[in-house]
Amino acid sequence: MSVFKACLLFLLFSSVTANAAYNVMSFGARSDGNTDCTEAFLKAWSSACSSVSPSTIYVPKGRWLIKNAAVFRGLCKSKIVIQIDGTLVAPSDYRVLGSSGNWLLFIQVSGLSVFGGTIDGQGSGLWACRNAGKSCPEGARSITFNYANNVVISGLTSINSQSMHIVVNGCNNVVIKGVNIVAPEQSPNTDGIHVQRSTGVTILDTSIKTGDDCVSIGPGARNLWIERVGCGPGHGISIGSLARDLNEDGVQNVTVKDTIFTGTQNGLRIKSWARPSNGFVKGILYQKILMKNVNNPIIIDQKYCPDNNCPHQSSGIKISGVTYQNIHGTSSSEVGVKFDCSPSNPCRGITLNDVMLTFLNKPAQSSCVNAGGTSSGLVLTGGRCL
Ligand SMILES: *[C@@H]1O[C@H](CO)[C@@H](O)[C@H](O)[C@H]1NC(C)=O
Repeated sequence: MSVFKACLLFLLFSSVTANAAYNVMSFGARSDGNTDCTEAFLKAWSSACSSVSPSTIYVPKGRWLIKNAAVFRGLCKSKIVIQIDGTLVAPSDYRVLGSSGNWLLFIQVSGLSVFGGTIDGQGSGLWACRNAGKSCPEGARSITFNYANNVVISGLTSINSQSMHIVVNGCNNVVIKGVNIVAPEQSPNTDGIHVQRSTGVTILDTSIKTGDDCVSIGPGARNLWIERVGCGPGHGISIGSLARDLNEDGVQNVTVKDTIFTGTQNGLRIKSWARPSNGFVKGILYQKILMKNVNNPIIIDQKYCPDNNCPHQSSGIKISGVTYQNIHGTSSSEVGVKFDCSPSNPCRGITLNDVMLTFLNKPAQSSCVNAGGTSSGLVLTGGRCL
């Protein structure tokens, strides 16, 4: 065969089998940080989404301004990889996106992988407005997955979101790994990862420093696995707030292991409003957790009612089967373990096993209200209450 023929064959072959690749630059995106790339990114998405073979959207190095709320909609014909080497930047004027709910929104996609990259929500203007007690928009969540299946987010950095950084809602089988989330301690409502109404979400090897919950877990979260996460500053890993609604899906089968909390407001928290609800929390395992100077290392609070609008009410959320195993470290307040459960639905099956928390080099205190269960192993909390 001549070299020419071989080349021709190779070209034919590769054009048939190679993944389609869509560089956002060929759709008009410019990496100067000033040109609005929203349309270009949406065009790249729509080409990838209609490709019958798996495709890659490529975002090179540089700053790409995504000025408007961008909706990346499925279903697509094949799998899509978004490989990001650069930074996606939200507009610094929070009024542009602040009322749109979401900045980067993926709906009904299946088989999507997002590799690398940085997304910068430029939230500081909005936080300043909120911290000044002015009337401000809610702020946009940086990246949201609604009704998506089989999603991988790997190596992404999210900084300075206006509100939540990453939201997983109504999804199945989502892996978040090697992600880095950063916002200041004083940035309001900047939860790191929020999971609700989703089954089979896994969060691994992730660092979260933010102004609200590192991970917040809402109604309908099932089979959630969180391992090797660093949290702090932040408000901890929280199940809740639950009982916002009367009819609410439960939270079931959540594991948090090999995780370190540093200087956080809470460590492992479950919280519900003191309101009627048919929701529940069951099958929760916290294992091998290190607390470093955490204000409420272990807390169940079923009396949450920030606006005091629930007089004489009691939480309907039924909490059962929560295991704390091998939890060590320091509390920055006297009470290291606090279970303040619902009078009408006491917590059942709380297990403390090898829980050793200290406050100023002495065993931290524990406090139990309406909580039942057992402690075993070495449980070093003054006046242990289970
Ligand atoms: C609990 O969730 C894990 C994943 O986090 C899963 O592997 C396991 O099968 C689930 N257990 C049950 C009983 O569904």
